[in-house]
Amino acid sequence: MSFPERRPRRLRRTPELRALIRETELSPRHLIAPLFVKEGIDEPQPIASMPGQSQHSLESLRKEARDIASRGVTAFVLFGVPARKDAEGSEAWNPDGIAQLGLRALREELGDDHVLIADLCLDEYTDHGHCGVLGDDGSVDNDRTVGLYRRIALTQAEAGADLVAPSGMMDGQVAAIRSALDEGGHTDRVGILAYAAKFASAFYGPFRDAAECAPRFGDRAGYQMDPANSDEAIREIRADIDEGADIVMVKPALPYLDVIRRSKQETGGFPLAAYNVSGEYAMVKAAVERGWLEERRTTLEILTAIRRAGADLILTYHAKDAADWLA
Ligand code: PBG
Repeated sequence: MSFPERRPRRLRRTPELRALIRETELSPRHLIAPLFVKEGIDEPQPIASMPGQSQHSLESLRKEARDIASRGVTAFVLFGVPARKDAEGSEAWNPDGIAQLGLRALREELGDDHVLIADLCLDEYTDHGHCGVLGDDGSVDNDRTVGLYRRIALTQAEAGADLVAPSGMMDGQVAAIRSALDEGGHTDRVGILAYAAKFASAFYGPFRDAAECAPRFGDRAGYQMDPANSDEAIREIRADIDEGADIVMVKPALPYLDVIRRSKQETGGFPLAAYNVSGEYAMVKAAVERGWLEERRTTLEILTAIRRAGADLILTYHAKDAADWLA
């Protein structure tokens, strides 16, 4: 009778042995909680396709953020849902727009020892639902849109954002926003979390209910990336780093773990976030509701996998629950 020499099972025998050799750490400090604030409501409105998430009033936004923060999550990304939309999305750069009011409320509630990130895009603000202004041919006009992003960035910086997060996938958006922030005197205080490799994904479906931003016509394939491409994703990520991004992001997370891994390896470990998006969250919630998956184990396995692939940070709607489980 001969036995194998290598016995990996020796180190799997007890929880302590397993913890001793665990390669990947997942803790609340790695999580960023997305929050939605809607103009003109008094009570939070639950989002049907995202169980556990709501569109918040300014009041309930504060409460929810404090609740999440008490579990050890230190960072939040805020999306505004305005009452009025127009062709240009002008509420997005209103100094007293809903996102700016939300940022101020969060800063007041949480103080300076929390990180506030402002999603920077136009789709929640335009009446047609696209991420920029439309040209004569009905497609999004890149350069005019980027000019508007510069205005949004300044009002978000002035409302207290630590990081602005351009998510519209316009060419040159990071450089343009960086120069606007610098000209506005925010060189050392406000950074850019760039949605660098954002794919044209079916997994954003529930978010478009949450942010009321489904395009009225067409889709976003003219500006977001083709899901088939990973070399191109690396070029997008490199471009954003060259333009002045402080953190880059891959989005969605689970179907793009290979891109996350490549980004981490091929950029010399440049700070990397991954967005575990609304559709990924909804899949878990739906299966859990039916009793087909165990919520806690499934969620922690997914978040660990995203970290293992190479993400430093994870934007996730599971942040509150996960932080509880990890405590
Ligand atoms: C665009 C934006 C989207 C998401 C974040 N920012 C939607 C889109 O590109 O259609 C999706 C996030 C999610 O699905 O959770 N401002």
